Amino acid sequence: MNELINEKIIAIDGPAGSGKSTIAKALAKKLNLEYLDTGAMYRAVAFVSIKKNIEIIDEKQVLKIAKEMNFNFEDGICLVNGYNATKEIRGPEVTRVVSAVAAMPTVRQEMVDRQRLWVEKKGGGVIEGRDIGSVVFPKAKVKVYLTASEEVRAERRIEQEEALDASKVADSIRKRDEADIGRSTSPLVRSEGSIEIDTSLMGVEETIKEILGLFKWN
Ligand code: CDP
Repeated sequence: MNELINEKIIAIDGPAGSGKSTIAKALAKKLNLEYLDTGAMYRAVAFVSIKKNIEIIDEKQVLKIAKEMNFNFEDGICLVNGYNATKEIRGPEVTRVVSAVAAMPTVRQEMVDRQRLWVEKKGGGVIEGRDIGSVVFPKAKVKVYLTASEEVRAERRIEQEEALDASKVADSIRKRDEADIGRSTSPLVRSEGSIEIDTSLMGVEETIKEILGLFKWN
């Protein structure tokens, strides 16, 4: 990947509910760049695996699904093997197993290859995930690590999902954080050179303003 392309890459990482999607989408719009939600890719692999009754511990089978998967994410619509799975990939069944799928090294490699290809084709982009600044695009022009307190992150999710059981949501986020931070391949970390922004008390506009103030865009 050449330096020119890295110039047009903004990497946004952080745990669940830290505001990645909202901020990444808005930034992409402002900067006239494409937006890629890499979490949706891992979710899509988990979704197809569930549909095909694959044991989530069987890495070979899950990898086969990942390799054969036709994934298309555009304007907020997620097409998985031609099926509109936008809602289902965010559902509780997928959320429960996605971190196990994402911990599989061979599946990650397949996803990372696809993410790099996507960026090459688009000539850059705003990419959000867990390992974007650390592994996928360590030389991205801007690397942001978004955080927020556990309480705020859980509140945001409850609102988004219109969930009724707050303690269940908080528990699910905590478990996923633990899995994502504790795995051996590409764990969620604040990558070298990234700027950490705590969004607990910040609105969307304020966060975007802060990120835009971090660099010169030309
Ligand atoms: O939106 P939310 O923060 O709930 O999660 P997501 O971004 O949709 O990601 C779902 C899961 O995919 C995460 O909990 C990680 O296990 C995994 N993931 C990852 O491992 N690496 C990425 N670059 C993106 C997501």
